[in-house]
Amino acid sequence: MTEARKRVGVLISGRGSNMVSLIEAAAKSDFPARIACVASNRPDAGGLARAREAGIPAISVDHRAFPDRESFERALDAELARHDLDILCLAGFMRVLTPWFVERWTGRLLNIHPSLLPLFRGVDTHARALEAGVLIHGCTVHYVVPELDAGPIIAQAAVQVLPGDTAESLGKRVLAQEHVLYPLALRSVCEGRSRLDGGRVIHA
Ligand code: GRF
Repeated sequence: MTEARKRVGVLISGRGSNMVSLIEAAAKSDFPARIACVASNRPDAGGLARAREAGIPAISVDHRAFPDRESFERALDAELARHDLDILCLAGFMRVLTPWFVERWTGRLLNIHPSLLPLFRGVDTHARALEAGVLIHGCTVHYVVPELDAGPIIAQAAVQVLPGDTAESLGKRVLAQEHVLYPLALRSVCEGRSRLDGGRVIHA
């Protein structure tokens, strides 16, 4: 019998709180995906231990052991291939991916970004949102394309900027929304309710 639930891999570089939110969502019997493996480019990523505690295979491929991005990615891809994945979710994965890797996973590669894209691509999003004086900030789940943080948007959640907010206080409220948003977006993709059509996502 083939398993109806999609097999999802999660790539992390750090504490992995978004990874935990995906693992917890996927532990529910009605969730259309299971987390089949977690991989990190940093052997010391805290999220690896948390994945193992949940009984999920957790591997590290240390990018520092490779001479360039693509050879690192080829080694990572070979590890991922052992888990027969349908979808790969980036969750705080702090390596820019080459077009080779992105194209290999095209249409199956998701990322969560801590801003309302297309605003504030890249890093330090909360400080930049405060600096710009926006009153609404938030987070985005999107398909990954070779251009950084520029892929078709799957789902977004808004967070109000409050008087006196610091990058830290704002980031904390955005992160709480990320933990809700990523499982919702993954569910929608797995159930075929958010699907890629040309360069956009169609929502059923
Ligand atoms: C999150 O804010 C995510 O949006 C960004 O990196 C952070 C990762 O946090 N891409 P965590 O490791 O999931 O806790």
